[in-house]
Order: sequence, then C-alpha cells, then structure tokens
Amino acid sequence: MSCYVIGVGKTRFGPSSHTIARLAHEAILGALDDAQMSIEDVRAFIVANFLGGPNESQLHLNSVVAGLFPGINMPGWRVEAACASGGAAIHQATHMLGAYDPILVVGVERLSGRPGGELTRNIGMAGDVILDQSQGLNFPATYALVAQRHMQRHGTTTRDFELVSLKNHANARLNPLAHFHHKRVTQADIDSGATVASPLRLFDCCPVSDGASAAIISSQPRDERSVPLIGTGLSTDVISLSQREDHTSFAAARGASRIAYQQAGIAPADVDLAEVHDCFTIAEIVAMEDLGLAAPGEAVGLIRTGETALAGSIPVNPSGGLKAGGHAIGATGVSQVYEACLQLRGEAGERQVPGSRIAVTHNVGGVGGTCAVQVLGGRA
Ligand code: COA
Repeated sequence: MSCYVIGVGKTRFGPSSHTIARLAHEAILGALDDAQMSIEDVRAFIVANFLGGPNESQLHLNSVVAGLFPGINMPGWRVEAACASGGAAIHQATHMLGAYDPILVVGVERLSGRPGGELTRNIGMAGDVILDQSQGLNFPATYALVAQRHMQRHGTTTRDFELVSLKNHANARLNPLAHFHHKRVTQADIDSGATVASPLRLFDCCPVSDGASAAIISSQPRDERSVPLIGTGLSTDVISLSQREDHTSFAAARGASRIAYQQAGIAPADVDLAEVHDCFTIAEIVAMEDLGLAAPGEAVGLIRTGETALAGSIPVNPSGGLKAGGHAIGATGVSQVYEACLQLRGEAGERQVPGSRIAVTHNVGGVGGTCAVQVLGGRA
C-alpha cells in the first residue's frame, strides 16, 4: 500500500456556537492550506459524523459539505461508526484511493447545546437499543463496568485513573486546540470531582466537545511534509458488553491493531507515540493493552512510572487525548491523525515528542463494537 496524509486541519475542540457546516469548513480550509491545494484538486470526500440527526436535525451531510464549495460536483459520502466514525472514514479513504486520488476526510460533530439527559441518551445510541439503552446502561455506566472488572482482575486502582487524567490534562495545557487548554488541573480538582458512575468520577470522563478535523489522503506524497500512512486496520465486534466473555479488553481493537501492524511491517515495540481513545481513563489503560504496548494488566506499571508522559519511553496522548483534548465524536479519529502528523513532522510545539518516527492512532466506537487503528510514519 502506498498512502500519504498530505494535509491536515483542525478547529479548536470545545463548546462552540458554530454550525456543523461552519466547523467542517474551518477544518477543511486548514487541511487545504496545509497541503497548499485548492478544493478543485480533490477528487472525492468523506464526512464522518455520529449525531447530526438526533442532535442537530441535520443529516445528508455530504450535501451540506458540498454546499460549502458551490460547483465542486464530486462524489461525497458520510461514514458513521459511533465514536469511531473518524477513524473508519480514514480507513475507508485509504481503500478508495484506486478510484479517487486525493480524498478529503472531514470529521465533524456538534454536541453542546443539548440538555445533558438528552445528550447522554443520544450518545447511548452507540449501544444496543434493547440490551443497553433500555436497561439505562449509558456510556459512563458501561465503562464503569469495564473499570470494575479491570480492577478485580488486574488490581488496577482509582489512583491509576487519576494518573491518566493528570497526565492528559497536563498535555492539553500544551495544546492550544485542546478543550481544556486553559484549565490547570490539580489533584485537588480531581479529588473534588463528583462520582459519575462508580468508580468513574468527573475527571475520569471526556468532556462534551464540538469541533472538526480534516485530512487529505493520497497515494503520492506532495512534499517533504507528507506523512506516510503505512498501516490501517478496522475491525468490528458485537455491540453490547452483555454479549462478550471478556470485559477488560476489546477484540475489535486487538484485531484492528494486528492488521495495521502487519500492513506496516512493525511490532508494538517500534511505536514511538500513541494517540488512543481515552473516552474514560480506564479506556486508555485498555487501549495500551489491546495495542500491545503493554501486556494485559501491565499498562498501569508504565503509567505509574511516568513512561506514558511526554518525556517517557512511550508517550500516550500527547495531544491531551479525548479526556482533556476533547471528544468531538465524529471528528476524534481524524483529530488523532492530525496530532500524529504534527508529531511526525516535528511541528507539535511544546508537546513535541522528540525524535518520533512511528505513531499509532486508536479510535473506538461504543464500548469496543468498532475499532480503527492507523500506523503513520516510518517507511513509505
Ligand atoms: N472533565 C473535567 N471537567 C469537566 C468535564 C470533564 N469530563 N465535564 C465538565 N467539566 C467541567 C466543566 O468545564 C465545568 O467547569 P466550570 O464550572 O469550571 O466551568 C463543570 O465541570 C460543569 O460542567 P457541566 O457541563 O455542567 O458538566 P456536567 O456535569 O453536565 O457533565 C459529564 C459532566 C461527565 C456528565 C459530561 O462531561 C459527559 O457526559 N461526559 C461523557 C461524554 C461521553 O459519554 N462521550 C462519549 C464517550 S463513549
């Protein structure tokens, strides 16, 4: 496979008064500018979005995006895979390059502005309507079950969750586009956080973010800043935890990473940094284990010794992750690729991981029903 990310763009994640269309426009213009291209140079586009229908009464998003550039007249699609929509769209674009080259991927989401209960219910649509939603099993509650099981099986503690949160909030302070860029989070803040779904408390949860990210994918590099996308895996599993044997690891994530690593010709030990789907702090721990960055039950050892911090041996979520960088659902998987590109080009500013050569991104839908993994950098 020959595949490159030739341009990336992103809005700030966080509460915004802008429409879906305006957010998408800003990210697309950023990616075109980054690639030094105009929209006429693009051959097709994919929009990744989860809740445009229930939240905004806006579907048919390919046409909404086409309307941003009157007269472009090119094929466009929407991809939806809950919180993995963005990663799934990148994966799909890489496989469509034979037909259209280059392809623009834009992930966009508006979540703020809905009453909390309604939003939680809408996000819950990523779970099974009978097995999960009708039982009141919303997403914080579902990941709380994952956390409880991980604690029982591996001795993981709530202190481990706090360390993940503190690290990601510290990284977000170095990321001007992060949801919590301006918020200094201390142990006292964490201690004062209310319980959301035991054992998860406020600072274990990602926030409710608006935002958009875009990436332009091509079979050819455009210039020396083009980043090789050397492996991409997408895998799906049953939707509900109640249908699974194991609640401490996601088969879709293990499957997607196996495919992506194989395609890239690398092993987990070759990874220099990871952007993973920490929608809840426990999810970062599970992600590291599913990606093979640590054996089952051993991710916490790396977290406790600071190895996942920016200066550690395997920095995880240098952007601040979903926890503190924000989670604009449909945009998140594309935003992870944005961060990987900045890091691999040496353009990540104060949060730069020195000498990074290979980055992995890991984007989960629901509680592991879908996972998309990309490997970037290294050889072309
Ligand atoms: N982490 C840290 N601080 C948070 C936060 C979070 N996740 N969410 C909100 N806050 C802060 C706000 O910034 C605000 O601070 P301020 O008073 O200093 O301005 C304060 O908490 C209250 O904000 P509010 O929006 O009223 O919070 P809330 O109680 O309505 O919502 C959650 C908190 C955790 C319920 C909400 O963030 C949430 O639902 N998160 C999960 C989203 C989700 O499930 N996504 C999909 C994952 S699969």
